[in-house]
Amino acid sequence: MQKEEQAHPRVLGVVGSPRRGGNTDFLVEAVLTGAEKAGALTEKIILNELEIKPCQACNRCRETGSCVHEDDLPELLEKMQRSQVWVLGTPVYWWGPTSQFKAFVDRWYGAKHVNFAEKKVILAIPLGGGKSTADHTVGMLTSTLTYLGMELLDTLLAPGVNGLGEVREHASVMQRACHAGRDAVKALLHVEDAKSDESCLHALET
Ligand SMILES: Cc1cc2nc3c(=O)[nH]c(=O)nc-3n(C[C@H](O)[C@H](O)[C@H](O)COP(=O)(O)O)c2cc1C
Repeated sequence: MQKEEQAHPRVLGVVGSPRRGGNTDFLVEAVLTGAEKAGALTEKIILNELEIKPCQACNRCRETGSCVHEDDLPELLEKMQRSQVWVLGTPVYWWGPTSQFKAFVDRWYGAKHVNFAEKKVILAIPLGGGKSTADHTVGMLTSTLTYLGMELLDTLLAPGVNGLGEVREHASVMQRACHAGRDAVKALLHVEDAKSDESCLHALET
C-alpha cells in the first residue's frame, strides 16, 4: 500500500440500480459518507451509465489476459484494484441482482489484474419485499466473494422500500450504513476510538 492509501484508504461504491437517486444509490452513498468521515477517499460508480457488455464465455481472457470486449470495464477494474473496500449495491430484481450488476460480476472472470483476495466488501441491498426475498442475492454474492477469498465486512439489507429514495425515511438503516463505512475505514487505519452514533447520522442529514 502506498503512503497516501495508508492515511486515506480508497473506498469504491458500485451502484447496480438503473435509478439515480434510488434506494441503492442512497444506501451506497450513506456507506461512503461514513467512510469519508473516517478519512477515506471515496468514489461512486453507476453501472447503468457505463458500457459493460455481457461475458461471451469465449475464454480469450484466459488465453491472452484481455477481454474481447472494448468497453468501460477495464477502467472500472483499475479503480477496483486501487480501492481497499468495495461497497457493492444492487436492488433485488426477481430474487437476484439487476442485470447490470450480474453482467459486471460475470466479467470478473477475466479480471486478471485485480487482487480480489485483498479486498473487503460491504453489500448494500434494498428490496421491495421482506428480508428473506434477498436470500438468493445475498447467497450468490457471498458465495462469489468467498470463492475469490474476499472479506465480507457487512451485509446491509433495506427491506420494504420501493419508492425512489424511500430508504432515506428509514433512519436506522441509513445510520447503520454510515457506521459500516466508517467502521471499515477505522479498522483499516487501526483507529480504536469510536465516534458517537449521532455524528455519523448528522453527516447524512447535512
Ligand atoms: C424489475 C424489478 C424486479 C423486482 N423484483 C423484486 C423482487 O423479486 N423482490 C423484491 O423484494 N423486490 C423486487 N423489486 C423491487 C426493488 O427491489 C425495490 O423497489 C428496490 O428498492 C429498488 O431499488 P432502487 O431504488 O435502487 O432502484 C423489483 C423491482 C423491479 C423494477
